[in-house]
This record gives sequence, C-alpha cells and structure tokens, in this order.
Amino acid sequence: MNEILLFRTVDQMQSTSLRWRREGVRIGLVPTMGALHEGHLSLIDLVRPHCDRLVVSVFVNPTQFGPTEDFDRYPRDLDRDMTLLADRGTDAIFAPEAREVYPAGHATFVEVEGLSSVYEGAIRPGHFRGVCTIVAKLYNIILPDVAAFGQKDAQQAAVLRKLTRDLHLPIQFLVGPTVREADGLAMSSRNSYLKADERPKATVLFRALKAGEASIRAGERQGDKVREAMRKVIDQVPEFKPDYSDIVWPESFEQVDEVRGDVLAIVAGRIGSVRLIDNLTVTV
Ligand code: PAJ
Repeated sequence: MNEILLFRTVDQMQSTSLRWRREGVRIGLVPTMGALHEGHLSLIDLVRPHCDRLVVSVFVNPTQFGPTEDFDRYPRDLDRDMTLLADRGTDAIFAPEAREVYPAGHATFVEVEGLSSVYEGAIRPGHFRGVCTIVAKLYNIILPDVAAFGQKDAQQAAVLRKLTRDLHLPIQFLVGPTVREADGLAMSSRNSYLKADERPKATVLFRALKAGEASIRAGERQGDKVREAMRKVIDQVPEFKPDYSDIVWPESFEQVDEVRGDVLAIVAGRIGSVRLIDNLTVTV
C-alpha cells in the first residue's frame, strides 16, 4: 500500500497545493462524496497519467442536498475509502468537516444559469448551485491542473464543464465513462439502499436507454418515437416511478426533435425510496 496524505483542514490542503504548484508539480483532482466504488476509482486511473500528485476529495456536501433528501443517511466510511484510494495510487485525500468548508457566515454561491434548472435541476432545486459552489471551492483549495468527473452524472459534468469554461479556469476537464454492474446497472453509492427485491428491477433504467439506442440504430430519427421506445420499457416495471426519460442534446440538455450526430438518452426516477439516474450517449 502507498503512503497517503490525509488533509482535514482547508489551510493544510491549500498550503500544500501552493507549495506543489511552486515546485512545478502538476496536480490532479477527483472530487467525490466517498462510499467509493469502481466508478470513482476509474476516474483515478483516468487522471493519473495527466498529473504528478493526485488528490481525491471525500466530502458529503450539504449544500447540494435538498431538505427532504438523504444527506443524513448518505453512507460514510473514511477508513474504507482511504484503503481503497491508497491501493489505487492516490497521493492525498482532502476530507474536511462541513464547518471547515462552510464556516458560520458563509454566504457566497456559484450558479450556472439555464442548464442548472432543467431535468435534475428541476427535480432537485438548488442541487447544481450546491455542486458548483463546492467544486469552485475545491478548485481554489486544491489548485488542480486537471480534474475528472463521471459521465454517470452527465448533466453535472455538463454544468461543471460550463462553469470551468465560463470562468476561464486553467483546468483540464476530463470525463470518464460510466462503470456498470454485470447486468447494466450503473454503479452508484445509492445502489446500497436497494432492497433485495428492488435490485433486479433497477436494470429498467439501462434497459430503457438501450431501447432508445436500438430504435435509433434501427433508423428512427424522430425524437418522439425514440422517447416512446424508452417509455415502453419503463411502463413494464410499475415499481419504477420515473421523473423523466428523454433524448437531449449532450451540452445544452435541450430536447431533441430530430436525431443527428451525438444525442444523449437520459432517465431518472425512484424505486421505493431510492432515486436512480442513468444516461447513454448514442452516436448516429
Ligand atoms: P459522487 O456521487 O461521489 O461522484 C463522484 C464522481 O464519480 C462524479 O464525477 C461522478 O459522476 C462519478 N461517478 C459516480 N458513479 C460513477 C460510475 N458508475 N461510473 C463513472 N463515474 C461515476 O458527484 C458527486 O459525488 C458530487 O456531486 C461532487 C462532484 C463530488 C460534488 O460534491
């Protein structure tokens, strides 16, 4: 196992990052909320060749959770996460307490307009504002040259790419492919909430995406028809309560009328009390 540095305060982390920067060290960042799985770890492999020091942040960010969401029960196990990260070649972990990042009187937030208020943003008001605020803070604390995010959260990746571009941040922005279980279910820390009888039903998201892809591959170009193909699969699983299923343009998340080039099939909803999201890029 590698030696791994653990930073618990903003000052410790930022002063180390500043020193690394002065020494010409290239810093890589993978932001996470912990409860790590292969999806997170694949982002480490993605960013590793682009940096000299790799920092993973482990922080369950309170500002991106709504008042009725799972902030309190979100799985937390820093010892387990540290072992996984050390084995995978991480140099440092930034795992602050909430009051370090949001001290009393904290009042500044970062918002990407438009893209943040559709789909995930419409279902989870304020979610992307919290995500953008914490990622802007992590950028400023860890000073990365390169940062990696997962395609699993496609809208989050699109919002953060826009934040990075709009603010002219000199940070290379990488997006890694979605890592899935053998049956297609996208890996997620929230999958552990699924009850035994709910777990097999959870493949409905991936199957709906594949149905959309298959209809496009078969020559369908009308967005409405592709949406219908996805909807048919969803309707077969009444335990799944969809928030949305759609075909959108990958950068703007505007609805696709006529399929051409790259389009994104997206789906989200609940099984029991567990909220799941997934997406698939389809190239014509
Ligand atoms: P979290 O859900 O822990 O995810 C951390 C990163 O791992 C995100 O970029 C996410 O897209 C990626 N990821 C999750 N599951 C994945 C999978 N199955 N395959 C590939 N990548 C996957 O997303 C967040 O945390 C937070 O919003 C954060 C960006 C850390 C800000 O708090």
